[in-house]
Amino acid sequence: MLAPVPRDHTYCFYRKTDKFGVQSDDTKICVVMVGLPARGKSLIAGKALRYLHWVGIPARIFNVGTYRRMDTPHPAAGFFDPSNPEGQRMRRAAAQAAMSDLIKWFKEGHGVVAFLDATNSTKTRRAWIHKCCHDEGIETLFVESTCDSEEIIMNNILEVKTTSPDYRGQDPEVAAQDFRNRIRNYEKIYETIDKSEKSYTYVKLINVGSTVVINQIKDYISSRLVYYIQNLHIRPRSIWLSRHGESGFNLGSKIGGDSDLSIRGEAYAKALPGLLKQSGIPAGAKLIIWTSTLKRTIQTARHLAAESGYETLEWKALDELDSGVCDGLTYEEIAERYPQDFVARDEDKYNYRYRGGESYRDVVIRLEPIIMELERSENVIIVTHQAVLRCIYAYFHNMSQEQSPWMEVPLHTLIKLTPRAYGTEEQRFKANIPAVSTWRSKGSSAKHQPSIDS
Ligand code: ATP
Ligand code: F6P
Repeated sequence: MLAPVPRDHTYCFYRKTDKFGVQSDDTKICVVMVGLPARGKSLIAGKALRYLHWVGIPARIFNVGTYRRMDTPHPAAGFFDPSNPEGQRMRRAAAQAAMSDLIKWFKEGHGVVAFLDATNSTKTRRAWIHKCCHDEGIETLFVESTCDSEEIIMNNILEVKTTSPDYRGQDPEVAAQDFRNRIRNYEKIYETIDKSEKSYTYVKLINVGSTVVINQIKDYISSRLVYYIQNLHIRPRSIWLSRHGESGFNLGSKIGGDSDLSIRGEAYAKALPGLLKQSGIPAGAKLIIWTSTLKRTIQTARHLAAESGYETLEWKALDELDSGVCDGLTYEEIAERYPQDFVARDEDKYNYRYRGGESYRDVVIRLEPIIMELERSENVIIVTHQAVLRCIYAYFHNMSQEQSPWMEVPLHTLIKLTPRAYGTEEQRFKANIPAVSTWRSKGSSAKHQPSIDS
C-alpha cells in the first residue's frame, strides 16, 4: 500500500534554501505591514494569510489595533495625535504586546509567517521591529501600501472603517469625519520607506499596485508572497465555478477518464449561457472561460463560448485529480481491489495519493498558478471537475484541508463567488436538469446515486 504523504511534509514544497542551497526547516518570516490608515493593509494581510493556509504554510496575523482596543476601544482622532503623550504611550505598549506575542508564537515552534498588521509609520518604529526580529532569527519583509487617490481612500473609509469596532454605535458620517482626522494625525509623522532603509527586504505597492517597487527579496516564500500581493486588485468582479455536465463515466459510477457528456450533460451545456445570464453578469462586462483539457469540460463550455463570443482558455492544471491505477474504476471496485488504500484515503483524504496518481495536496500545488492568475483577472468562469473545484472553492472560503475533499458540489449547478473587502459572497444557481450525484460520504463505497431531482 502506498502510504499517505506524512503530515510533516506540509510545506516541503516551500522549504527555504540557505545561501549554499541547502534546505532548512527554520524559516521564520515577519511580514511587517506599513501604510497610513485605510490603505488596505489588513485586507492584503488577510488575503495573504488565506493563500498561505491554502498552500499549507502555518501563518498568523498579529493586529496591533486589536491589542490597542483592549484598553482604548473607542478612541477619538485626538488619541492618534503625535503630540498626545498618553496616546503615544498606549500605542507603543500595544505594539510591544503584539511583537512579544509574535515572537512567542515563533518560539513555540509551529509558525512560518507572521503578519504584524499596524501602520508602522516611522523609520524608528521599523528599525525597532527589524531589530526585535533579527535578534530572534526572524526575517522581515516590509509591505508598504501607499495611495493618493482621495476617491479610493474615501470609499475605503465608507466601506470598512465606519463599521469598525472603533465606531460601534456611532453615526457613520461622524465616524467617517473622525477617521479622516485620524489619518491627518498619522500624516504628521508618516515616513515612507526610502533609500535609507535599502538594507531591508521590502515591497512598496503604490496606488493599488499600479506601481510596485521590490527590494532585496531573498527566500522562496517571500518571493511567492510578493508575487501574490502584487497581483491583488480591488476592481469589482465575480468568479463562476461549474463542474462539467454529467458525463458517461458519471453515469457508469466510474472515476477519472475522459468521457463525453451524457444526454443530460449536453442539456446542461446548452443551459449554461442562460444560467450565467440569470446569475447576473453586468451587461457588456468582459468574461473569460477557463476549462480543463478534458472533453467533458470543453463540451460543457462550448455553447457558452459560441453564443457569447467569450474567449476560452484550456488549462492542464484544471484537469481532474489523477486517480492513477484507479482511473476508470468505480468506488466499489477500488474498495475490492485496493481495500487498504480505500480505507487510507478515507482516513486522510487530503493527503492520500493514489498509486501512480495524485492527492488533493498535489492538486493544490498544481493549482497555485491558477490562483495567481485568478487574482490578476477580472470576471472568469471556470468549468472544471469535482476535486479541482473543491480545491479552488476551499481557497475562496478558507476551508480546512480536512473538510474540503468531502465537500458536496452537485453537478448542473453554477456557483457565483464575489470577493468583498472581508470575505467572499456566494450564490448558487441550479439548472433544472437532473444528474447523478457523484458524492461519496466517508466510509461508504456507494454507487453514484441518482440525484433527488432525477
Ligand atoms: P487601518 O490602518 O485603519 O487598519 P488598513 O490600511 O488596514 O487600515 P483596510 O482595513 O485593509 O485598511 O482597508 C480595506 C479597504 O482597502 C478595502 O475597501 C479595500 O478595497 C481597500 N484596499 C485594498 N487594497 C488596497 C490598496 N493596495 N490600496 C488602497 N486601498 C486598498
Ligand atoms: O466522480 C467524478 C470525479 O470527478 C472523479 O473523476 C474523481 O476521481 C472524483 O470525482 C474526485 O472526487 P473524490 O475525491 O471525492 O473521489
